[in-house]
Amino acid sequence: MSSERFYITTPIYYPSNKLHIGHTYTTVAADALARYHRLRGHDTWFLTGTDEHGQKIERAARAAGKEPLEFIDEIVAWIKELWQVLHITYDDFIRTTEPRHERRVQAMFQQLYDQGDIYKAEYEGLYCTQCEAFYTETQLKDGNRCPDHDVPVEKLREESYFFRLSRYADRLLKHIEATPDFIQPASRRNEVISFIQQGLEDLCVSRTSFRWGIPVPFDPKHVIYVWIDALANYATAVGYPDGELYRRFWPADVHLIGKDILRFHAIIWPIILMALGQPLPRQVYGHGWVLLEGGKMSKAKGNVIDPFTLIDKYGVDAVRYFLLREVPFGADGVYSEHALINRTNVDLANDLGNLLSRTTAMIERFAAGRVPERSPEADDAELAGLAGEVVHEVEDHLSRSELSSALTSIWKLVGRANKYIDETAPWNLARSQADRDRLAAVLYNLAETLRLVAVLLTPFMVLAPEKIYAQLGLAAEDPRAGWAVGARWGVLRSGVRVDRGEPLFPRIEDEAGDAAVAPGTGTPVAQPQPELLSIEEFKRLDLRVAEITSAERIAGADKLLTLSLRVGDESRQIVSGIAKHYSPEELVGKRIILVANLKPARIRGVDSAGMLLAASDGDQLALVIPEREIRSGARVK
Ligand code: ME8
Ligand code: MG
Repeated sequence: MSSERFYITTPIYYPSNKLHIGHTYTTVAADALARYHRLRGHDTWFLTGTDEHGQKIERAARAAGKEPLEFIDEIVAWIKELWQVLHITYDDFIRTTEPRHERRVQAMFQQLYDQGDIYKAEYEGLYCTQCEAFYTETQLKDGNRCPDHDVPVEKLREESYFFRLSRYADRLLKHIEATPDFIQPASRRNEVISFIQQGLEDLCVSRTSFRWGIPVPFDPKHVIYVWIDALANYATAVGYPDGELYRRFWPADVHLIGKDILRFHAIIWPIILMALGQPLPRQVYGHGWVLLEGGKMSKAKGNVIDPFTLIDKYGVDAVRYFLLREVPFGADGVYSEHALINRTNVDLANDLGNLLSRTTAMIERFAAGRVPERSPEADDAELAGLAGEVVHEVEDHLSRSELSSALTSIWKLVGRANKYIDETAPWNLARSQADRDRLAAVLYNLAETLRLVAVLLTPFMVLAPEKIYAQLGLAAEDPRAGWAVGARWGVLRSGVRVDRGEPLFPRIEDEAGDAAVAPGTGTPVAQPQPELLSIEEFKRLDLRVAEITSAERIAGADKLLTLSLRVGDESRQIVSGIAKHYSPEELVGKRIILVANLKPARIRGVDSAGMLLAASDGDQLALVIPEREIRSGARVK
């Protein structure tokens, strides 16, 4: 194990509602980073949990007719199940109602009071219970509505304790300015700087009008403000101020949060730590929002996407991949079922899945199913070189929490390998003895690229890396054996027997499209029944047996072939999208079924008069051909 260590946290979630796909974003991202650091051999700690006090929770429980804890326990169980289904590898789950947390929060509060950082005063303010935060009138919408939740705020007048934020404003500003990495990305840092420059007011940190909170130790009719209670979890969970884990992991390396809770993490929390004389976290990273096309997801709008439904339908890896790839980390991204299907089909089924199925199929066909000998040839330095570059890029991006860019780098390698197949055309090499070594090198390089991609994907995906390994014949080896072991070129042994399996990511039919997704469920609404054809309508199709007399690729279109056909005495030319499945050579002489009365079209500048019939399933495609010898031109009916 290396001497480096890595402590990452997610926000602790309010168990007032079930979580939606936006909430899972923070946790999936934190999980990917935690997994990466473990693979690097760093001593890693990943904390998540639930934020269980405050008026919002108390009211939600009451509305459900339950005691707060009884209400919360159910949701917490649900949340833990969700993290299990998403394969979240947290090391600890803190609940703020646990004694280990409560007594440490009280100790912090006591210390701040004893040293004069907390004082008592009369307070009147405007409060949003959804945010659990005070606002000034100018910050509100129309003078009385929460800018985030658009609900009326409440006027509160209470005797309260205050925390001297103002005393530490300058020190914090200096720290932020001297430590560029402290708040990331840079846009968030600027936002915080200008907020502090406008001046910080002392913060109201206790409440008397309700009971669901941690009592102030020296004045128990007050409960501690829920945000002080919540922020403290990052330290209490590891045993603040002197536990073994605290000494091992504090200060945290990254507090990963959504941008809506940036000020709490980048201003209040660091000031509490300064006042307590504790080191500050190395970084607060405020990621963007996962939006719906109509804007923010919210229970109130009834447009939340249930993560269980989505995972059930598309699989855990597709959902994790979509979240981490689609949203440029730090910026906002838009969720739609259509976009998820599209990512799955294009990136996963097509680019990655086809690379695997083409590679294993060719190893079966041209190398008797065994990964050939590695033979470093001049031609392939480019692919191996790119692989090395991509490993470095991924490391670089992940050191800056740039998850989406890391995936983009990995797909650069996937794309290059697909092109490598087209360029080297192994099916042509297989024809001549003279090209045998070259063919072996090409097949080795493809298998090794896939093996490396599987390792690079281990932080992001939880099932696919093992599946890729299994198909490459490496079922007994572990893609998660470690970064140093697997994330480099040339590791694959020759002679292993490939084991072609099911498509890695079957294509999804986007029958729903966006318009057909019912708001609030994320599942398609009922589709109208397909119309039935009459025999007359079917007879309008002129289907003919046709013989392929020549086949050629179309420059710049890697899916298309131009086919010349003989249909009885007639000649025809059609353009067909089967180039990924059939080489021109193997097509010549085949008899296929032609739709002969299709309106002519021009495709990529080539005339096409008709189309051929083929069956497709996921990434498989098979031509429909007559079962026995029959003359070309014969009618199919
Ligand atoms: O804020 N897109 O809890 P929470 C991206 N208890 N992220 C989203 C999101 C979306 N659509 N919706 C929510 C709290 N999140 C406090 C935290 S930490 C000491 C206390 C993110 O359950 C949100 O930004 O309301 C936040 O990071 C997290 O989910 C928890 O939200
Ligand atoms: Mg929230």
